[in-house]
Amino acid sequence: MTILVTGGAGYIGSHTALALLEAGYSVVVLDNLANASRESLARVEALAERTLTFVEGDIRDRGVLDRLLNEHEFSAVIHFAGLKAVGESVSQPLGYYENNVSGTVTLCQAMQAAGVFKLVFSSSATVYGDEHPMPLHEGLPTGKPTNPYGRSKLMVEEVLQDLAHSDTRWSIARLRYFNPVGAHESGQIGEDPQGIPNNLLPYVAQVAVGRRDCLAVYGSDYATPDGTGVRDYIHVMDLAEGHLCALNTLLNNKNDCYTWNLGTGQGYSVLEVIDAFERASGVTIPYRIESRRPGDVATCWSDPTLAERELVWKAKRDLTTMMVDTWRWQQRNPQGYR
Ligand code: NAD
Ligand code: WQD
Repeated sequence: MTILVTGGAGYIGSHTALALLEAGYSVVVLDNLANASRESLARVEALAERTLTFVEGDIRDRGVLDRLLNEHEFSAVIHFAGLKAVGESVSQPLGYYENNVSGTVTLCQAMQAAGVFKLVFSSSATVYGDEHPMPLHEGLPTGKPTNPYGRSKLMVEEVLQDLAHSDTRWSIARLRYFNPVGAHESGQIGEDPQGIPNNLLPYVAQVAVGRRDCLAVYGSDYATPDGTGVRDYIHVMDLAEGHLCALNTLLNNKNDCYTWNLGTGQGYSVLEVIDAFERASGVTIPYRIESRRPGDVATCWSDPTLAERELVWKAKRDLTTMMVDTWRWQQRNPQGYR
């Protein structure tokens, strides 16, 4: 079976491409390399000891999509391609709506024309907004994301729901990720942010490896046990395996529009993450407390039981493993893929 993976050269896409190859699927990656390097896929091929097909192209380019979908018999599409920097989305909303929303519409139009109706989509816990008590479960109404990035994910979720209702040939999984971290245990592939990292773990890892001086902890006055923000960090390989389970479910079940949380169900504070990283790496992380980051919520963690039951999937790697694997990747690749 052949799977089209959009955005497959990126962080989560490359780990999922590896899991797909190891599970015996053939993989075609479409990526415009806006936030990725071709090197990630060379390493995926080396780890899997199998080749994949890479096409440098854009999901907004209908011609490229039509050509690809005609050339291959895809069983499904896993759709990671998109822009994900929250702050940038505030200053460049049109770019985010064009890439994330229009790009997904174009992809679905091309899939429909080619008769490919199974789609796994990268959504985010951000669609829940900030008004629900924890843990977050799929039965809760979606909320009001606080930025254009989050709104683009919510818009796409709604587009996909409408699409599945309009035509029963569609089978769609909307996967709501919590906070993906970590790297493949080989240390060969991992997260390689361009510029200053927006997310906690890449920043901590770059401080540890000497690329940055000091971590800013955004707020110590939240209503949490130690005052810092609490999140549900999930190992990227657990996430990748969750995609394979979602894919299997789409391939073997009736047509529907499914929504599954991919999280661990366990929250950790910023200070707990720093402590776990220091213990895993043996490196002290200098940090200073700063004011809250606008748009941040105090707590965010999942109820993962629906995915556990329906996908027969459970995140199994603990916080220590997430830190050990992050550190192995960062230590072996201090400048990322460059
Ligand atoms: P990433 O930036 O590493 O990967 C996205 C990939 O898509 C990159 O390789 C980029 O070059 C490619 N891309 C972007 N626009 C494209 C376009 N128009 N055409 C073709 N390729 C394009 O990000 P990631 O962390 O791997 O995230 C993957 C998906 O998961 C994204 O949709 C993101 O919004 C979503 N997500 C990520 C997180 C997270 O914290 N990492 C959390 C929730 C959801
Ligand atoms: C985690 C915690 C910060 C950086 C974001 C997006 C979300 C999703 C995942 C895509 C928070 C604190 C962070 C730093 C810090 N992405 N922090 N110093 O904000 O939960 O989620 O990425 O869908 O949409 O909003 O993740 O890693 O940025 O922050 O103190 O330098 O770490 O305040 O409490 P977040 P994060």
